[in-house]
Amino acid sequence: MDLPPATLRPRNMPHLLSPQQVAAYHRDGAVWPVRVMSEVDAQGYRRALEAHEAKSGEPLQGNWRHKTHLLFTWADALVRHPKILDAVEDCIGPDILCWTTNFFIKEANSPGFVSWHQDATYWGLEPDDVITAWVAFTEVTPENGYMQVIPGSHRIDQLPHRDTFHKDNLLSRGQEIAVEVDKSQARGIALRPGEISLHHIKLVHGSDANRSADRRIGLAIRYIPPSVRQTKVRDSAQLVRGTDRFCHFDPEPRPQADLDAAALAAHADAVGRQVKALYSGTEKTAFRA
Ligand code: NI
Repeated sequence: MDLPPATLRPRNMPHLLSPQQVAAYHRDGAVWPVRVMSEVDAQGYRRALEAHEAKSGEPLQGNWRHKTHLLFTWADALVRHPKILDAVEDCIGPDILCWTTNFFIKEANSPGFVSWHQDATYWGLEPDDVITAWVAFTEVTPENGYMQVIPGSHRIDQLPHRDTFHKDNLLSRGQEIAVEVDKSQARGIALRPGEISLHHIKLVHGSDANRSADRRIGLAIRYIPPSVRQTKVRDSAQLVRGTDRFCHFDPEPRPQADLDAAALAAHADAVGRQVKALYSGTEKTAFRA
């Protein structure tokens, strides 16, 4: 469907999502699949990541899995991808900050999993107008540990979580919901490369290990409207569409070249603030490897 330019479009007209998909996001707390690029383009992003990994001789590690868009020009392009932003705008409006990115990489036949959790638990962001665009770099299936969600759970209150710091848990603190999750209500999010899912910061979700012969790679991009506040630290973010009339976050520079000195310094500063927020109350000073 061809859409008129933004200036000619009524404000309430979706850019990419159908009205039914927008309604599903608000009702269920998640919507998928949404195709934002071709499979070939998605494979190009995978190749860009793996070219770096081949050079460094190991999978992307530790802090570099987070706010990766401040380090690499290809990741910077991805968080500004017009179709991703169109879908996000349909859900949170025309002014958009990219707050962070988190790679969720599960190696072939590996034990890494994600316990049932709500993203809102340690992020410090208020109000809960926070959306994740989860971009599939590879196929995402039940076998390779797709994300599972409890539809509608974003409308219940913040649930109590406990930290486990389990070695195979891919979350920052290995946090898990401290009460029973009714798994019979869960729905799995299968995606093709180049598709995204969108989910709300309070949606209950988790995923199992990768039992397949290939890596499963997804990049979770966290977007907020500029009206959202960080309650734990003076945080930073990047304006990717529209205007920021609030200035609750310090602006982050875009990388001019992959891993150049300015990019590394900006990334270290930004991740330092985020670690302080996410690990508050613990001794941690860096993301877990
Ligand atoms: Ni999550």
